[in-house]
Amino acid sequence: MTDQISAPDIFRMDRRTALAATGIAATALTAVACSSYGNTEKAAASTNGAQDKRQDGSTELAKTSEVPVGGGVIKGDTVITQATAGAFAGFSSTCTHLGCKVGEVSDGVIKCPCHGSKFNLDGSVAGGPAPRALDTRAVRVEGDSIVSA
Ligand code: FES
Repeated sequence: MTDQISAPDIFRMDRRTALAATGIAATALTAVACSSYGNTEKAAASTNGAQDKRQDGSTELAKTSEVPVGGGVIKGDTVITQATAGAFAGFSSTCTHLGCKVGEVSDGVIKCPCHGSKFNLDGSVAGGPAPRALDTRAVRVEGDSIVSA
């Protein structure tokens, strides 16, 4: 007499085996999700130009064409402004109030979303609770690029 295994017997698991399988599946899904998230961050960093290292060790932050005259852009942890044509300046994107990252450059000012501080395009305080100007970041123009100095 031979043992016959029916289909339901093949798929029957004890409770411990089922829990272990669930844990392994959850771990695998988490690993895949984290891996995908990292790739998205790298792609975003590459897209915004903040991670493009150059042969001389400087970093390309932006193309000059990306920075509007009378405005600016935020690239990674650097704010790049162009108050007048060709006058580029760089600043830390860390607000001098309580350390939030400034969120946007619009209407001729750099704005912090946390408590409403505003900074002029030269980094000086334009309003809000910030006690001092944004820290400067040395930048220079090379060709059509703005690079860290
Ligand atoms: Fe920017 Fe408070 S941290 S206004």
